[in-house]
Amino acid sequence: MDLKLKDKVIIVTGGSSGIGKGISISLAKEGAIPYIVGRNKTNVMATVSEIEKQGGQSGYAFAELTKPKECENAVAECIARFGRIEGLVNNAGVNDSIGLENGSYEDFMTSIHRNLTHYYMMAHYALPELKKSKGAILNIGSKASFTGQGGTSGYAAANGGRNALTREWAVELLPYAIRVNALIVAECYTPLYERWINTFDNSEERLQEINKRIPFENRMTTTEEIGDMVTFLLSEKSSHTTGQLIFVDGGYTHLDRSL
Ligand SMILES: NC(=O)c1ccc[n+]([C@@H]2O[C@H](COP(=O)([O-])OP(=O)(O)OC[C@H]3O[C@@H](n4cnc5c(N)ncnc54)[C@H](O)[C@@H]3O)[C@@H](O)[C@H]2O)c1
Repeated sequence: MDLKLKDKVIIVTGGSSGIGKGISISLAKEGAIPYIVGRNKTNVMATVSEIEKQGGQSGYAFAELTKPKECENAVAECIARFGRIEGLVNNAGVNDSIGLENGSYEDFMTSIHRNLTHYYMMAHYALPELKKSKGAILNIGSKASFTGQGGTSGYAAANGGRNALTREWAVELLPYAIRVNALIVAECYTPLYERWINTFDNSEERLQEINKRIPFENRMTTTEEIGDMVTFLLSEKSSHTTGQLIFVDGGYTHLDRSL
């Protein structure tokens, strides 16, 4: 299937690690140009050179996404380099364990800025170009917004916000033929996930327990599996899909728990 993504410029926030890296690499394999926006310069440059070695093309901007001005600059740099934006993947975030008991007003708001505000800012700044290109937006979300997790109010609220913005923008952007979807992740082993699992004393046992509960093949979703679905959803082969929250989670969120 030709996804017709050749030379399409797609911004991917946090596109050099974990899920974002999986998305950047999948896009580049289809001939698209992932434009990686991240704050970890070493990781960003490593992913750019990995894509080049595989024969692909990419672009990048360094940005701390909690700062709106840096979101604006990253979008402007992308336009200055390529003259267009055909897609936006909002992905960067962190499960930062701001719970009801251990958090404060400042902690909660910081978590919202880490996980939600830049989704809005990036869409806001990219929109003029997306209108010209009839591009697509894809928001990465988390099962935490459906199942709860405990001890992570900021992250859960931000993910609820990601889901709501997906539907809200799908409606608002109908007149411009811009599609907006979300891909919901449950368990995917990434540097973020590794940091989280290592907060438990019995991290190895805990990991085995979680794997056992994932219905499909008792294993975590890979970053490639997420990247490939995101790539498909951004492509014109999914041209009548909008406002959807799509779970790529091996059945973790919805299938019978007694499995
Ligand atoms: N890993 C999972 O199982 C899982 C489950 C559900 C949802 N998610 C979501 O997937 C997304 C990516 O998670 P991951 O596991 O790949 O994490 P990760 O830590 O491996 O990668 C995240 C990348 O985003 C960058 N980033 C984060 N905040 C940033 C900021 N403020 N400014 C600039 N760059 C920033 C990081 O530097 C890193 O490169 C997150 O939004 C998370 O909510 C992950």
